[in-house]
Amino acid sequence: MTHQVTLIPGDGIGPEVADATVRAVTATGVEIEWERVEAGVNALEEYGELLPSEVFASLEMSRVGLKGPTATPIGGGHQSINVQLRKKLGLYTNFRPVRMLPGLKTRFHDVAVNLAIFRENTEDLYAGLEHEIVPGVVESLKIITQNASMRIARAAFEYAHREGRCKVTAIHKANIMKLSDGLFLKCCREVAAGFPAIQYTELIVDNACMQLVMRPETFDLLVMPNLYGDIISDLCAGLVGGLGIVPGANMGDHHAIFEAVHGTAPDIAGKGLANPTALMQSAVLMLAHLGEREASVRLQSAIERVYAEGKHLTGDVGGPASTDEFTDAVISYTQG
Ligand code: NAI
Repeated sequence: MTHQVTLIPGDGIGPEVADATVRAVTATGVEIEWERVEAGVNALEEYGELLPSEVFASLEMSRVGLKGPTATPIGGGHQSINVQLRKKLGLYTNFRPVRMLPGLKTRFHDVAVNLAIFRENTEDLYAGLEHEIVPGVVESLKIITQNASMRIARAAFEYAHREGRCKVTAIHKANIMKLSDGLFLKCCREVAAGFPAIQYTELIVDNACMQLVMRPETFDLLVMPNLYGDIISDLCAGLVGGLGIVPGANMGDHHAIFEAVHGTAPDIAGKGLANPTALMQSAVLMLAHLGEREASVRLQSAIERVYAEGKHLTGDVGGPASTDEFTDAVISYTQG
């Protein structure tokens, strides 16, 4: 079966890590028809729009995207591309698995960190509802709805059930925001009741930050509203080597976009130095989503083998290799 995937290479190092990832995915033998569309500053220069309608037209057909980082120009009233994609396609789950890569020295390399983060992606303070009441007083609205809280809680528990995760922790600040975070917790508890085999706990967000740094190995799956998710998911990326390593996915009922969470790295763009690990690991998630489980596991194992050997790593993780050399090494193990 041939899968259709929309490829959004993006800006800066985006095209380099996207090409490397397409090569690695192709090496698994899974047949994919890639439709390459431009978004970001490249698209703005070429088509006069950051996010041309071709991107949505392609995603409407394929329903699956692989996206490199895109630059959003500062000022000029441009809305972030990621925010636009999430809103228009109803991508309400931001999923980030956070795992150690073998051999990669980090502050926590002697601890087995293996977390799954489910961040609600559509509301909370990110609804963008702000106004000035009187000069010097601004109000920013935190929106929490039962509908959005129930669907992220369900997505988290269903994933935990499917993937054999034993414990779900809901992160909140309901001691202060009793109504909004209180509603989020009520929804999590309701969904948890349907999964008696999964341990359910709750943790206040500030305590969660401390516990994650002190005892990351005691956590399994975390579910939380948008703002806490934004902060905690980067904190967790820092536990395993930073944003250059970890993959991400934005998922809704009908569409999914798999993406690197790092930026466009303008300082190294075009030099062949970029580390494609984050996008490659996002492609691992994409292959599983497409039902290509075996190829997904094979690609993940190949990436881990290259890290375990440590000979073909890129400069950002202390190695001497170029993007191409790292990719060639991954491909050599992907093919078996
Ligand atoms: P950045 O992530 O692009 O760079 C921070 C540092 O990390 C730089 O030193 C860079 O060289 C390094 N780095 C990042 N990814 C790397 C990789 N794969 N391999 C090797 N080194 C890597 O963050 P910055 O500088 O804050 O943002 C630059 C641009 O990226 C901005 O225009 C921003 O809007 C955009 N951005 C886009 C994102 C997305 O599309 N998901 C996310 C974050 C930023």
